[in-house]
Amino acid sequence: MAFIEVRHLRKEFVTPVRRSGRFGTLLSLVRPDKRTMVAVEDISFAIEQGESVAYLGPNGAGKSTTIKMLTGVLEPTSGSITVAGDIPHKNRKRSSYRIGVVFGQRSQLLFDLPVRDSFELLRYMYSIPREVYRRNLEEFTEVLEVAHLLERPVRTLSLGQRMRCEILASLLHDPDVLFLDEPTIGLDVVAKERIRAFIEKMNRDKGVTLLLTTHDMQDIERLCPRTMIIDKGKLIYDGSLQYIRDHFATERHIRATYDHPLLAESAAALFAVYEGVRATVEEQVLRLTYDQRRTDTAALLKLLLDASPPRDLTMQDENIDALISRIYREGLTVNPSAQRLSLEGAG
Ligand SMILES: Nc1ncnc2c1ncn2[C@@H]1O[C@H](COP(=O)(O)OP(=O)(O)OP(=O)(O)O)[C@@H](O)[C@H]1O
Ligand SMILES: [Mg+2]
Repeated sequence: MAFIEVRHLRKEFVTPVRRSGRFGTLLSLVRPDKRTMVAVEDISFAIEQGESVAYLGPNGAGKSTTIKMLTGVLEPTSGSITVAGDIPHKNRKRSSYRIGVVFGQRSQLLFDLPVRDSFELLRYMYSIPREVYRRNLEEFTEVLEVAHLLERPVRTLSLGQRMRCEILASLLHDPDVLFLDEPTIGLDVVAKERIRAFIEKMNRDKGVTLLLTTHDMQDIERLCPRTMIIDKGKLIYDGSLQYIRDHFATERHIRATYDHPLLAESAAALFAVYEGVRATVEEQVLRLTYDQRRTDTAALLKLLLDASPPRDLTMQDENIDALISRIYREGLTVNPSAQRLSLEGAG
C-alpha cells in the first residue's frame, strides 16, 4: 500500500436553500429545501513516502476540500483515504502525529500570545520530547530566520513573518507528511523564496512527503517534480511538469534587438516563407512568435542571423501558468503515467 492512498474520493456539501416569499419562508421551516454541491467528484491517486507533489487546479476545483479530507478535518461522502496506514477522519488523533498541515488562509497560532507560546502549546499537545523540541526549534528558527520574532505577539507580525512561523509550527512534531494549502499566497518574493528553501530542505534532508496546492508556478517548478491537476472535482492530469512542458508548451518567443531601427514590412517579408510565424517590430526590436512543432527553431534562427545579426537575442517558451490555464480551458485529458491514473484497476 502506498504511503498516501486515495480511491474514488467524493465529497458532497448539502446546504439548505431558502425559498422566497412568505409561504416559501414558512415552507422552508417545515420542509427545508436542500441543494447538493459536489466539491470532489471522483479522485484517485497514490503518493509514495518522500515524494513532493503539486495539487493544482482553478478556483473551486476541490483542492482545499481534498486536503481537509486528507487531514481528517472533513469526512468523505464516499471513497477511501489512507495516510501512513491510518484513515485520517477515523483516527484523527493518531494520524495528527504523522501529519503537518498549513492553510495559507487560516492560522493555527494564538493571535494574542507570543509566537513561542503557540510552539510550547504544540509541544504539549503532541508530547514532543524536550530534546526533539529544542533541536527542531533551533534548526527551524535559523533556516526560516524567525528567531527574533519568538517573543512577539502573533497579531503584530507581517503576513510573511507569520507564515514562516506557521510552517515552523506545522513541523515541530516531526510529521512524516506535510500538507500545504497555498503556503506562499500573498507573500513577497523574498518571503516566498525563504519558505520554498525551507520546505525543499525538509523534503530532501528529512524525507518529509509534501503535497501542496498553489497558484504560484515558481513553487511548483522549485518543489514539485510531480504534478496533479484537478478540475471540477476530477483528476485530469497526473505526471511530471516536464511532460506538460514538452507536450503542450508549443509556443515560443524570440526577441532580437538591433543597433538600428527596423522596417516592419521587411521583417514581414523575410519571415513570410514560414507560415504561422508572427513577426512584429517595435523600433529596434523584432519579436517572433511561433509553434515549435510546426517551425524548426534552428532554420528560423539561421534566417534571422543571415539577414542581419542582432545585438541581443533571447528565447522564451510559453510560461507554465498560461499553459495550465489553457489545459483547464481546453479540458485536456492526458495520461502520461497510466499506472497512476488507473489505480481503480489495481489491488
Ligand atoms: N463547507 C462548504 N459548504 C458548501 N460548499 C463548499 C464548502 N467548502 C467548499 N465548498 C465548495 O466546494 C467547491 C470546492 O471548493 P474548494 O475550497 O475545495 O476549492 P479550491 O480548489 O481549494 O479553490 P481555491 O483555488 O479557490 O482555493 C467550491 O465550489 C466551494 O464553493
Ligand atoms: Mg483552496
